[in-house]
Amino acid sequence: MTQAITYWAVVPAAGVGKRMNADRPKQYLELDGKTVIEHSLSRLLQADVFAAISVAISMEDPYWPELGISTHSKIITAAGGKERADSVLSALTAIAAQAADDDWVLVHDAARPCITAADIHRLINELKQDEVGGILALPSHDTLKKTQGQDILGTLDRSHIWRALTPQMFRYGRLKAALSAAAGNPAVTDEASALELQGWQPKIVEGRPDNIKITRPEDLALAQFYLERQIRTTKS
Ligand code: CTP
Ligand code: MG
Repeated sequence: MTQAITYWAVVPAAGVGKRMNADRPKQYLELDGKTVIEHSLSRLLQADVFAAISVAISMEDPYWPELGISTHSKIITAAGGKERADSVLSALTAIAAQAADDDWVLVHDAARPCITAADIHRLINELKQDEVGGILALPSHDTLKKTQGQDILGTLDRSHIWRALTPQMFRYGRLKAALSAAAGNPAVTDEASALELQGWQPKIVEGRPDNIKITRPEDLALAQFYLERQIRTTKS
């Protein structure tokens, strides 16, 4: 008999939030009465599909142990790394004893607090029969220019251009191997790019536009607006 496939979540949360320019890493800024990371983790728990959530936290982080959610029975704390990819690899290694190579892993940025259970379920339902896996993404609406200095060299065909979001969903064994092989490569800014370098072809699944990443100060107000709107529309 074949073993049932388990779903795991991995949350990189060991960044310093340089572009946010705040007094603490952006995952600990407050949004609607809770920190950004508490929103992200609660949404993953609400999806009710994960055996556990492995969270990569910086060793010097004084904020994480203060949060009640850090001792939740489904949450595992791993050490963060230098780059996002190192943090993800460390969080994967922390579940090595329990995870099987064929299990699915959904990697989700701590800095995306507006993820909905509906988007998580859609990604899983569309890709669970897939050989490789894939990512939530958004079509690009702006006209895109290729440039050299201030000069425009041409206009890209935007019908083939998508913006990568998270969660990104891949098989445990293959994701770990791809990230290990890509160690130190600055071109690997998400999980899909590590798999692409191994010759795999991940899929895109269109996500919701409100699944924004908190990156700059103005994003906090936008996330607040989206969270309130999501709560209003699920109540009505
Ligand atoms: N991240 C991580 N380990 C790192 C760098 C980033 O776990 N060494 C995490 C961040 O905490 C965040 C996610 O990866 O949840 C996406 O990264 P990004 O938005 O770039 O966050 P920061 O690196 O913190 O921000 P900045 O690049 O502005 O410093
Ligand atoms: Mg960063």
